[in-house]
Amino acid sequence: MRLLERLAEEHTLEFEGYQELLESRTPELAARAAELALGFRHEIYGHDVFVRGLIEFSSFCKNDCLYCGIRCSNARSDRYRLTPEQIMECADDGYLFGYRTFVLQSGEDPHYTDGMLCDIISAIKGRHPDCAITLSIGERSRESYQRLFDAGADRYLLRHETASPEHYAKLHPASMSFENRMRCISDLREIGYTVGIGYMVDTPFQGAYELACDLKFVEEFRPGMCGIGPFVSHHATPFASEPNGSVELTCFLLSLMRIIQPNLLIPATTSLGTLDPMGREKGILAGANVVMPNLSPREVRSRYDLYDNKICTGEEAAECRFCLDARMESIGYRTVVDRGDPKPMPS
Ligand code: SAM
Ligand code: FES
Repeated sequence: MRLLERLAEEHTLEFEGYQELLESRTPELAARAAELALGFRHEIYGHDVFVRGLIEFSSFCKNDCLYCGIRCSNARSDRYRLTPEQIMECADDGYLFGYRTFVLQSGEDPHYTDGMLCDIISAIKGRHPDCAITLSIGERSRESYQRLFDAGADRYLLRHETASPEHYAKLHPASMSFENRMRCISDLREIGYTVGIGYMVDTPFQGAYELACDLKFVEEFRPGMCGIGPFVSHHATPFASEPNGSVELTCFLLSLMRIIQPNLLIPATTSLGTLDPMGREKGILAGANVVMPNLSPREVRSRYDLYDNKICTGEEAAECRFCLDARMESIGYRTVVDRGDPKPMPS
């Protein structure tokens, strides 16, 4: 408890402090962390929950991340691409449902050139100038990030996946590097994007040491957003028989991140909802303040197959929107029609 109270006072701990906090987790410690996290959350964001409409526009990926169901060596993945017109239709529908942020996410798919992506971004911005566009399309060159930013993209989600270089090497093929991922994250910030980082919880080879590296990285980098969700195994990956992550540990980490950086935007992720029917509610009650309902056309949803038993694959966009509104209301929170930019820290 002593370390937790110090964290709430000072918003920083030495690396060993984070590790000790993680190793000493008990239900009582987690409950106190959630209480402190909600105190900060309510002070800055009240009971508002920001919504982002997620458009998963391509499941083609040139990478081979060991944990991911759409990795390129999964030959049985039934892949799809949305046309620019289909992407626009999703955004138009989303606007009517009250979304003011669209997250365009895909595997790393070279089919979508900078030119194509810039056209899509400017078309959405042209029709919906009051909306923010978040990209989540992986590692690219600095020049490419700059072009997409100049076309109107506001934010970029690129999870660092793990802040330990040794751990990174165990989750990714040799063709991918920790250094390049960090280069991308720092380029994105320098260009002017609001940057979202993040990591999975309970990936293979991860323990308190690795998670302490993640917490220290969040503290030092001060991202706009940080998305975390439990690792969920996929049957056609090298990690098929690895156990799924812990919802409780994920919620504890959500609380700690809220305490470290009280104005952080933190989603209650789909993977939390996949492992626990009340997972997203638990995430909000631990300190998260964002949800990302799916806006992709229903026909393609199950094909964006990152992990087994992913939820929301049979629903229409409107159903997900209303489902989440009701879920948030049931725990005393409300979704809002808002771009959902980070708010300043209280003075
Ligand atoms: N290609 C983009 C990228 O790499 O940032 C965006 C798509 S990628 C599939 C989105 C995120 O899904 C990854 O950053 C990873 O953390 C998460 N993810 C992939 N496989 C997962 C799994 N088996 N369990 C939980 N999350 C997973
Ligand atoms: Fe998609 Fe509940 S959020 S069905």
